[in-house]
Amino acid sequence: MTKNADKIIVALDVPTKKEALALVNQLREQISFLKIGLQLYTAEGPKIVRAVLSTGAKVWLDLKLHDIPNTVARAVESASNLGVHMLTIHLSGGSEMIRAATAARTNNITILGVTVLTSANEQTLREIGVADRVADQVLRLAKLGVEAEIDGIVASPHEIKRLRAEFGDKIKIVVQGIRPSWAEPGDQKRFMTPRQALEAGADYIGIGRPITTHPRPREAVTRILDELNG
Ligand code: C5P
Repeated sequence: MTKNADKIIVALDVPTKKEALALVNQLREQISFLKIGLQLYTAEGPKIVRAVLSTGAKVWLDLKLHDIPNTVARAVESASNLGVHMLTIHLSGGSEMIRAATAARTNNITILGVTVLTSANEQTLREIGVADRVADQVLRLAKLGVEAEIDGIVASPHEIKRLRAEFGDKIKIVVQGIRPSWAEPGDQKRFMTPRQALEAGADYIGIGRPITTHPRPREAVTRILDELNG
């Protein structure tokens, strides 16, 4: 069984390699999975990915790819060659794009699909011509992804139960929007605690600011693990 510490992915949402590696050094004893997203990757490129991988940690490259199928496939190849463990694509790119991505996987990379961003609401969907409710659009895109053989879904904690009921253990579920009971919600409105999310059936929980902006990030991780293990 995976131990709780290995189910936590810390989001390195910082602007520079220096700040990212300082965090990795502080957390590396406790945490073995880090997320590199658009901010850090755009600033520092593949060298920050290689630097984090060289510590022996796993990397989730959260680039949320959405482009023509051939371009996405070539980017999946590049990410696979880089040695990252997870990569995100937008499922709204459609089944041909998703299939191009899953067919291009090598090196055991896990392709995660993003359904509807948690920042989007019904009004956002109407703006882009989607008449469905958010929950229905999430399920529609998740089905499209599973049919095209993605490995997992990035979800809001409140979507875990429905996705698990629909797909069982066929997919990994990775959630964000997690706030430990002692943390400030910040801009998160619909969050769950790490424990609630794992109990609801998440495989991994992505956590950013409660750890990365904590004055003592190691202590934040220790408190989260105590809560999970307690
Ligand atoms: O809010 P926090 O700093 O914990 O977010 C960690 C990561 O999760 C960020 O990279 C953010 O983009 C992502 N996130 C998300 N959906 C949310 C909240 C955060 O995808 N509702």
